[in-house]
Amino acid sequence: MSAHIDMGMIQADFDRIAQLSSENTDKRWNHNNHYHRFLLEQVPARCTHALEIGCGTGEFARLLSSKAEHVLALDLSAQTIKLACERSTDFTTIDFDVADVLPRTFSPEQFDYIVSIATLHHMPMEVILPKMKDALAKGGTLAILDIYKMRFSDLYVNLIAISMNLLMQRVKNSRYPAASPEARAAMQEHIAHDSYLTLSQVHQICQTHLPGARVRRHLFWRYSIVWTKPQ
Ligand SMILES: C[S@@+](CC[C@H](N)C(=O)[O-])C[C@H]1O[C@@H](n2cnc3c(N)ncnc32)[C@H](O)[C@@H]1O
Repeated sequence: MSAHIDMGMIQADFDRIAQLSSENTDKRWNHNNHYHRFLLEQVPARCTHALEIGCGTGEFARLLSSKAEHVLALDLSAQTIKLACERSTDFTTIDFDVADVLPRTFSPEQFDYIVSIATLHHMPMEVILPKMKDALAKGGTLAILDIYKMRFSDLYVNLIAISMNLLMQRVKNSRYPAASPEARAAMQEHIAHDSYLTLSQVHQICQTHLPGARVRRHLFWRYSIVWTKPQ
């Protein structure tokens, strides 16, 4: 189910995107941070260790640090982690680390909460999901938000999402500068070689690797998987 994934290219893309980004532009509402509240609601009541995979510039890790005693936030891109550190100097309980999560080893049951936002489409699900499961403590929660590939049957949701997106951009983003043309071009070039799972592929993968997981479709071209490890 997974296409060939070139980690060097992904890393280079995000290094370039980070170099072209600005803090004010990154404060804009987007289709990922719209779901931050939902993802925070999935954090277990008692959360000592949390892991974020593909933390980007640390926006969610900073929120997560109010709910977890310690956050380990990993990202493949050194330039992105540099920005995350610069923007998080007051957040002493977050450790940002430049790392490809796939070869990285974790202790079994190390984390009470593991989260990943718009990142898992960059890696084979059949490799990363068992790894996340092993690293999750019993009773801990795995929360994934990612982009799905649209089918013709998703057309009506797509139309609603397009209208709501225009409205949200107007309401939420008028006070923040738009990304520069260079930054937009870098993102478009990255997206051109991204590939996504369809919702039915996501359901199929969960049946195999995460039986009992709750899979939801969200409006802005995203799905979520929430899975709690049995005690
Ligand atoms: C689309 S960005 C999302 C960033 C952030 N989660 C957000 O919501 O803004 C995907 C991030 O995943 C990181 N990434 C991709 N593959 C990775 C891997 N194998 N290990 C760690 N990070 C990875 C990229 O460097 C990039 O920063």
